[in-house]
Amino acid sequence: MAGRVADKVVLLTGGAMGLGRAAAKALLAEGARVIITDVNAEAGAVTADEIGCEFLAQDVTDWERWQAIIAEIEAAHGRLDVLVNNAAITVFGSVMDISPEDFRRCYTVDVDSIFMGCKAAIPLMAKSGGGSIVNFSSAAGNKPSPDLAAYNSAKAAVAMLTKSIALWCAREGNGIRVNSVQPGTILTPNVESVIQGTPDPEATRAAFSVAQPIGRMGEVDDIAHLVVYLASDESKFATGAPFIVDGGLSIA
Ligand SMILES: NC(=O)c1ccc[n+]([C@@H]2O[C@H](COP(=O)([O-])OP(=O)(O)OC[C@H]3O[C@@H](n4cnc5c(N)ncnc54)[C@H](O)[C@@H]3O)[C@@H](O)[C@H]2O)c1
Repeated sequence: MAGRVADKVVLLTGGAMGLGRAAAKALLAEGARVIITDVNAEAGAVTADEIGCEFLAQDVTDWERWQAIIAEIEAAHGRLDVLVNNAAITVFGSVMDISPEDFRRCYTVDVDSIFMGCKAAIPLMAKSGGGSIVNFSSAAGNKPSPDLAAYNSAKAAVAMLTKSIALWCAREGNGIRVNSVQPGTILTPNVESVIQGTPDPEATRAAFSVAQPIGRMGEVDDIAHLVVYLASDESKFATGAPFIVDGGLSIA
């Protein structure tokens, strides 16, 4: 199949919904062979059916499962060209609101998973002649809030971890590029349910919109297009970079 990522084998975590689902769809439309994974096996299987890709159940915090998934992909496809580490959770709360367990859980899902995903995938990607790793950070990794102690710091860690791994890959000369993406507030179904869960949803929607100088929340395609670019060879000179697509949130 023709396309900007034609025949690339892509593993994308957290693909059942939201930005992961949209990115998987965009990659498929550009010719990739996409395997999505998710801890929500039911929703993941439904999405895979709907968009036409493979699905594997995965908790990204489980190191043994990471190794098994990479082995399965090698057996089925013989290669891996792109890893999109999208799965994450948002833990809301200030330093005084959240427990040490909440804080640790945010880091385990959002940061440890990316370390494990890169560590598991790099040998197969190197054997495949190189490729691209896309790690989901967030504008929240640049712009602190008093009420996002765990998420702010975890997403900042993702951007720095990405840089370290990118430099290691460059030094190894293994052909693997590693970049992070930093979306602003994007109107996913989950963000919509956060809005609906507040006492005044319309006031919250307005506040989420004006937080971005561009005056609105982003759409899932705004990030899906970026993932396609980073997965494709069009981005062949980009590595270690945080790609900010946030309606100006980080500079406001
Ligand atoms: N939506 C936004 O406004 C926004 C902004 C900045 C960054 N991000 C980042 O973009 C990524 C996607 O965000 P989203 O809004 O689409 O999230 P989402 O919550 O809608 O989807 C995340 C997916 O990850 C899965 N998941 C959660 N824990 C998992 C685990 N342990 N193992 C495997 N899968 C797991 C969920 O089941 C879900 O399908 C995340 O990294 C998020 O932090 C989102």
